[in-house]
Amino acid sequence: METATKINVLKGEEIIPYIDEVSAFRIRYFREFPYLYAGSLSYEKEYMKGYSQEPQALLIVLEREDGKLQGFSTGMPLTADSDVVKDACQYFRKAGYDTDNVYYFGETILVPEQRGKGNYTKIVQERERVVKEMEYTRACFMAVKREETHPQRPADYREPGPIFSHMGYQPTDVEVSFNYPTVLPDGASADRDHQMVYWVKSL
Ligand SMILES: CC(C)(COP(=O)(O)OP(=O)(O)OC[C@H]1O[C@@H](n2cnc3c(N)ncnc32)[C@H](O)[C@@H]1OP(=O)(O)O)[C@@H](O)C(=O)NCCC(=O)NCCS
Repeated sequence: METATKINVLKGEEIIPYIDEVSAFRIRYFREFPYLYAGSLSYEKEYMKGYSQEPQALLIVLEREDGKLQGFSTGMPLTADSDVVKDACQYFRKAGYDTDNVYYFGETILVPEQRGKGNYTKIVQERERVVKEMEYTRACFMAVKREETHPQRPADYREPGPIFSHMGYQPTDVEVSFNYPTVLPDGASADRDHQMVYWVKSL
């Protein structure tokens, strides 16, 4: 039987009680393609603390009725005084984009059982409703770019680009290289560069 889920919106310090669970979730699911991120729990907790310290930051959670986390999406104003958006804001400015009234979305991850059921649509609609209420007029996020022939690409991998386009986001010509600890084909980890592309939408 299908388990009922609900979406909750947490803002600023309301995120604090979720830091441990979301951090563990990030470590687990970011190891997978396309991220291949071999992160550490202590770093992730610090990173999520950054969201909880920004009053206009958002954590949108998809939860089962028993409270079990099924997915999440993060965000904060692009010009917030936070390490979370410092680089993103700089890249946008360097590329000639106006950063005023732009809201930055971090990552969205759903557990595999909750994918392909329209949950992303519900999360995006909810986060955009809240962001518009805060009077932001544009949204952006960054997605990792992977070649078709990547050796770690699963055979059943669904490229999320068409989903982002369906939700009204467009890829920009702003591409940046990020270096982070990466899961390698043999399961070991080492620092590697990854190309990221910025996507934008007028709200
Ligand atoms: C990427 C991800 C967030 C998408 O969420 P999802 O809920 O599985 O997305 P869905 O398949 O339900 O699709 C969402 C919408 O896009 C539409 N869509 C799906 N595939 C599409 C395609 N190829 N072309 C056009 N539209 C498409 C769906 O119809 C749905 O729209 P609707 O609700 O208006 O019908 C989710 O699969 C996930 O967590 N993946 C792993 C992590 C990841 O890659 N995250 C990327 C963002 S950081």
